Amino acid sequence: MITDKLLQLLPEKVRARVEPYAEAAELMSEVRDPKVAAALGPSGVRGLIFQRGKQGVPTKIKASHDAHFDWSYPMDQPEMRELYTRAKQNQWDGDTWLDWSTNVDPESPEVRIIPDDFLNFEKLEGYIGARFTPREKARIRSDVAAWQLSQFLHGEQGALFAAAQVTEAVQFFDGKLYGATQVVDEARHVEVFHRYLDTKLNKLYQINDNLFVIIDALMSDSRWDMKFLGMQIMVEGLALGAFGTLYKITNEPLLKELLKNVIRDESRHVHYGVLALREHFHKHISERERREREDWSFEVALLMRNRFLAYEIYEERFEGLLTRAQWRDVVSTSPGLEEFRHVMFSRLVPNLREIGLLSDRIKPHYDRVGLSKYFGGRSADQITTEEMIGELDREASAIPSLALAHA
Ligand SMILES: [Fe+2]
Ligand SMILES: [Fe+2]
Repeated sequence: MITDKLLQLLPEKVRARVEPYAEAAELMSEVRDPKVAAALGPSGVRGLIFQRGKQGVPTKIKASHDAHFDWSYPMDQPEMRELYTRAKQNQWDGDTWLDWSTNVDPESPEVRIIPDDFLNFEKLEGYIGARFTPREKARIRSDVAAWQLSQFLHGEQGALFAAAQVTEAVQFFDGKLYGATQVVDEARHVEVFHRYLDTKLNKLYQINDNLFVIIDALMSDSRWDMKFLGMQIMVEGLALGAFGTLYKITNEPLLKELLKNVIRDESRHVHYGVLALREHFHKHISERERREREDWSFEVALLMRNRFLAYEIYEERFEGLLTRAQWRDVVSTSPGLEEFRHVMFSRLVPNLREIGLLSDRIKPHYDRVGLSKYFGGRSADQITTEEMIGELDREASAIPSLALAHA
């Protein structure tokens, strides 16, 4: 990439200052559709250039949606009502359901939070020109796990507020009742991920700038269905991909149990997103608006795929030892990330199809980036939570190591 080559020519200190701008420009250039670029632009500036998520003070994001009241209390969405009932029955308490007395050593060579081949160590060692000792590798693994879980936690905070906003804004009354249970779910997720990081890993990374961009864009969009699409389908899909991957590969028992419970909740959230948007997109928006949402979700899917590259770890440990472009190469070719992409898209693409955002017009674009194999998968309303967990368990036991998972 030409920007990378130009950046190489700069002295290191200057390069560190210029790189965020280059990344912001790159983010915009990655977005093919000008309308989508314009919609994400202000959030891109706030997240990538001003790094609003990393300023150490509370971040204020202006919300601008309408609260939708209905004094007639229509109960005309039986599937949402059913989800509401199920959500009430399946509440769990993070304090008592999880065994917090479990001793977790994040650098343990036996009980590994993530396996050794999660990261492409070979490539990393090649770029740095040195080999890591097993202890160093364990420390890096532990940092990668803490980084990943920190991003889960920050994403859950976004989900908590987005669920609250969507509950106000949504037009379906049964959806509002269901939404209230999601708010509780997300609060519990914040609670358990924070407790795990705080008491077991003793480390918390700041929010990744690209995750901030997505959360900022959703919080500030005034259209409830865009918020909904972004949160309930895209970010929840991302979360399911990430949680599912970690659930499959970790052999740390407390984290595994924690993730299993969170995944159960999240699968309800995505299911709700599919129900509400299927109804809305098929009946209440114009073809032009549908196309806009179709383009938006394709671009955001690509951004989610391409941009969660753990730069926070690079800045902490490896800056000066290899370039950002080399780090990007290490992370994006890591088996852990490939697995994550697989789980994420296998859930996400069928859901987009189900809500009407996978028309013949957009399919060639998905095909071009290698995602057409997911077109025929089961959407969230066609798969039960237990089937989903069962699928993850089967895949987990079938793979001796990550590198072999999708060979
Ligand atoms: Fe959540
Ligand atoms: Fe969720």
